[in-house]
Amino acid sequence: MSRVEAHAGARLGGVLPPYPRARPRRLRLLKPLRDLVSETILDPGHFMLPIFVSERHSKPEPLGSIPGNYYPPESGDLVDLVSKALDFGVKSFLLFGYPSRKDERASRAYASDGPVQKALRHLRRELGYEPVLATDVCICNYHSEGHCGLPGNCRFGRCVANDETLEVYARIAVSHAEAGADIVAPSGMMDGQVAAIREALDREGYWDVAIMAYSAKYASSFYGPFRGILDSAPRWGDRRSYQMDPRNAWEAVKEVALDIGEGADIVMVKPALAYLDVIRLVKESFPWIPLAAYNVSGEAALVELAAREGLAEKAALLLEVLTAIRRAGADIIITYHALEAAQLLKEGRIPF
Ligand code: PBG
Repeated sequence: MSRVEAHAGARLGGVLPPYPRARPRRLRLLKPLRDLVSETILDPGHFMLPIFVSERHSKPEPLGSIPGNYYPPESGDLVDLVSKALDFGVKSFLLFGYPSRKDERASRAYASDGPVQKALRHLRRELGYEPVLATDVCICNYHSEGHCGLPGNCRFGRCVANDETLEVYARIAVSHAEAGADIVAPSGMMDGQVAAIREALDREGYWDVAIMAYSAKYASSFYGPFRGILDSAPRWGDRRSYQMDPRNAWEAVKEVALDIGEGADIVMVKPALAYLDVIRLVKESFPWIPLAAYNVSGEAALVELAAREGLAEKAALLLEVLTAIRRAGADIIITYHALEAAQLLKEGRIPF
């Protein structure tokens, strides 16, 4: 029986002959042997680094709970960060904006002089098309009420409006495309957001700007640090009327199928570490579409805290987490640890 047949047999629950001389340890005894048979390779080219560009900071300041800084959008420090990442082999970036003020129209989200728009123009001016620049398209950090959609009314009372929000997303995406984004990434979990953005981009002539859809984004407590960083927690209610229920995995297949149908170029599962089964399910259901997994702020904080408390060796823990996300089936890993991990890989400090 070939290995492939044995694998298929095992998956189908078939009975395999006993292997009295099997010694799996034979291939684990030495590192070169382990490397030879390793199934998963971590490469910094698959990491995407989130960056927070802030109108409220005039110099880089640490984010606190997770690695990274707030960066002024037009600073040399921002260019230095991206250049350094490029040197380490990290080539893609996901920009989030922290505006000077939030209002009822989320106006800093689509202003041509908004933080993300400024940062995009600045990075393009300084570094051309070497970095891949993706942008988060959402209003939670720009709107005074902190929801991912505009406030509205449902039959039972106050709720987050859907279709009115789509118009704002389209406007934000076009403003990012105008400023030089390669990829726009809608994260608000409104129905129809990918179609609305695709249509607007095409109408404005940006057929060449890709959409990375936050397709299966769960209502997760692992977003806590991020919401602190961008002051984007909802001022009333919660996000459970639009983000996914952590109890569901098959529903992720539905969300991804809909987003592919609406024109998504890349789909996403978020968070990553607590949703490895969902990553695997989506990869097996749609193996041909690039899949991103977002190792979110609370997950990064767990690694930071465990290391700080001396509960684990940081490098080993970090690379194990990222390897697990790749092994589950993610093509792209969005991670606050992109630089640190890339450095470890470059130095050959691989703990396996
Ligand atoms: C919402 C958004 C969130 C994150 C990125 N965009 C989560 C949320 O507040 O619901 C979380 C990222 C993280 O925790 O690292 N637009």
